[in-house]
Amino acid sequence: MSSAFLAACRAEPHDRVPVWFMRQAGRALPEYRALRGEGSILDAIRQPKLAAEITLQPVRRYGVDAAILYSDIVVPVAAIGFGVDIEPGTGPVVAEPFRGRADLDRLPPFDAERDTPYVLETVAAVVADLPDDVPLIGFAGAPFTVASYLVEGQPSRTYTKTKAMMHGDPDLWAALADRLADFAIASLRSQVEAGARAVQLFDSWAGALSPSQYERYVLPASRKVFAGVADLGVPRIHFGVNTGELLGLMREAGADVVGVDWRTSLSAARSRVGDAALQGNLDPAICFAPWPVVEREVRAVLDDNDGNPGHIFNLGHGVLPDTDPTVLERIVELVHTEGRVG
Ligand code: CP3
Repeated sequence: MSSAFLAACRAEPHDRVPVWFMRQAGRALPEYRALRGEGSILDAIRQPKLAAEITLQPVRRYGVDAAILYSDIVVPVAAIGFGVDIEPGTGPVVAEPFRGRADLDRLPPFDAERDTPYVLETVAAVVADLPDDVPLIGFAGAPFTVASYLVEGQPSRTYTKTKAMMHGDPDLWAALADRLADFAIASLRSQVEAGARAVQLFDSWAGALSPSQYERYVLPASRKVFAGVADLGVPRIHFGVNTGELLGLMREAGADVVGVDWRTSLSAARSRVGDAALQGNLDPAICFAPWPVVEREVRAVLDDNDGNPGHIFNLGHGVLPDTDPTVLERIVELVHTEGRVG
């Protein structure tokens, strides 16, 4: 059956502007908090029935045009035993960060069927329950963003250690990025084989880099990821925050759809990515303003796109945890009724 989301990824004609939200499965939903309980999110991800139900919750509640797998970008590196956990309220933490060449041995090849069978069971369970016109998006962390956690050992604002390695030992950095590219390829391929119908590569923190740093130290590995899934024929989305200056390069990496945050207008983004489709870009903080403001800002995003068929409405980054879910429900309805294609 036809999917507005898949058509928009290819900038083909369709009947309504598709919308989904990054982090749509999560703490903003009371039904998520009720199901999730205590404990590491990594434990929840290892339970296919639970993870599938959490993936489906926002589809039912919001009526979004795509589901995104409930998992995390650090799942493959955690699964091969690198010693990664996710601390609630903080994010990924690594007991023994990646420091030198010897640490490459701690990143043996990742085999999704062997190392994360539960993820593939979740994908299959979700796909079995989704309506045909609501595809599941599989995802992986891009080499730079995953490496930043492995090298820093925790979330960072400055990426000091990561940049020091990049510039100080480019060969080691390239070996690390290349290995993580292989992880992303294996992970994405397995999700698509299990039933995902689009993939998103999250390079959330690439915006910390200048275009020349990105081109030299990040683009080769991300390009490898996109080339490594090209034959699957599913749309490939590429997203990062604060990447206004990098959008052209992120497209060049091999993306069919480029994610845009709220700092860059869709029209400016379009001039930088050529004929790629765009995904974005309402500021997630706007959801906390009174409804008339939200409504005005949603319309502003739609107007900025000006009917271009290559647009998937989304937030410019993930849903913030305290967001009122009824606001997201209303946004979906507004985009569906007011969005214009063509
Ligand atoms: O709904 C969805 O978007 C699907 C699920 C999803 C999660 N993580 C679940 C999650 C996705 C797509 C991710 C990707 C991810 N993980 C990214 C890229 C997206 C982005 O936000 O830029 C990044 C950078 C991570 C690393 C990570 N994992 C962070 C920074 C955090 C937040 C820590 C916190 O508690 O604030 C996590 C944990 C995490 N991953 C949560 C969820 C729902 C929240 C913790 C929980 O519910 O236990």
